[in-house]
Amino acid sequence: MYKLYPYFTNDGSVGLFSPADDDIYHSTYGALTEAYEKFILPAQLENFLQKNSEIKILDICFGIGYNTKSFLNFLYNAQIDTDNVYMEKNNGTIYTDNTFSKNSASKTVNNKYLKIYINAIDTDKILAGLSPFVICNKKLPLNYKLPFKNEKIEKFLNKPSKNKIKFYEEINFILLEKIARNNPEIFENPEIFDILTSKKYRQYFNKLYALLPYFHKSGEGLYTLVCRLNAFLHNIYYRYLSISYKKAFKWLKFHGFIFDLKIEDARKILLSDDNTYDFVFLDAFTPAKCPCLWTVDFFKLLFEHLNPDGMILTYSNSAAVRNAFLHAGFCVGKIYTESAGKFTGTVAVKNKSLIKYDLSEYDLSLMKTKAGIFYRDENLNSQNEAIIKRHKIEVQNSNLISSSQFIKEWKKHN
Ligand SMILES: C[S@@+](CC[C@H](N)C(=O)[O-])C[C@H]1O[C@@H](n2cnc3c(N)ncnc32)[C@H](O)[C@@H]1O
Repeated sequence: MYKLYPYFTNDGSVGLFSPADDDIYHSTYGALTEAYEKFILPAQLENFLQKNSEIKILDICFGIGYNTKSFLNFLYNAQIDTDNVYMEKNNGTIYTDNTFSKNSASKTVNNKYLKIYINAIDTDKILAGLSPFVICNKKLPLNYKLPFKNEKIEKFLNKPSKNKIKFYEEINFILLEKIARNNPEIFENPEIFDILTSKKYRQYFNKLYALLPYFHKSGEGLYTLVCRLNAFLHNIYYRYLSISYKKAFKWLKFHGFIFDLKIEDARKILLSDDNTYDFVFLDAFTPAKCPCLWTVDFFKLLFEHLNPDGMILTYSNSAAVRNAFLHAGFCVGKIYTESAGKFTGTVAVKNKSLIKYDLSEYDLSLMKTKAGIFYRDENLNSQNEAIIKRHKIEVQNSNLISSSQFIKEWKKHN
């Protein structure tokens, strides 16, 4: 049976756990935060946007679409900001909805026309169904501060706004969910169940509230009734909290947004894909679970699909992954997350000048140990199990020193 367990990650966005894969789809640290920190901010989009009028993204392992949507949110907010400044300078008027204003001044915004293509791939079509294509309008300034912190929520609540009510509803919903998690028996109470689910009270409760009792009844957060629950799941950030997603939709339309999701093995799709991309988000399950998307051969295929100034971004810090990127012909660098004060991923590029954080001597030396032995899949059609088995044999037969021995010696000398 298809099962997914949803959970609130630390930034309040919803993550998923798959018992079948025995893996989480989203970091408990924060699904949305991770999307921004590992895929969007290190892309240095500001620089790219200054030079280009077209952007092509490849989202490998789309899942419920956090990366694509975070990218669109970022771009949307960045463009709206730039447009505002432009307007202000040129005729002294600020339009809150300037991109779509019928006013003639809005035509000048056409100068900033950016054609947006996103090709996404995932093997799981149910996930895509959980992910309606809408975006929230959380303002993200270019110098970026994540908006999903409690003090931000407080600030928002203290600010007079006609959208306040919606926001209260959202917080109430999260609180109710938390209460329910600790006291699931509250839904056993017929009165509460009736109040939350009965049509006659619907006008007093958002329909999301009514989903909670069903959700809990279906067994500890088990997502079997996908259709009925899809509103509750991912939309918390991408629809429900959205206070101007219609505006964002218009913005997408204005920019000739083209989105294409293919439900298939990413290797198969890319073998017959003629496109080249500016940014590739690689968000597969860990190499130990899904090695087929981390092999040197898959990376060679990605090399053919990356523009000269393009960038591949991934959350993996694995020495084997970095080594595979190097062997596939890329220049490799690291992703640094300031808020965490640590390196949180890897970038692979053709143009070395795009690398902000180089691999250290330690990283390069680690790649020369057994930990740097990468996965192989020459025909790009092996099963994960076969790739793992082959890799294990290669590691066992290798004369390289083990990573633990290397680390011990490194510590001794440094
Ligand atoms: C860590 S999750 C990705 C989460 C996603 N980026 C999001 O925002 O929700 C990994 C995804 O890889 C997909 N997947 C696994 N094997 C794949 C393959 N060979 N080709 C494409 N997608 C695959 C799974 O269905 C799952 O959705």
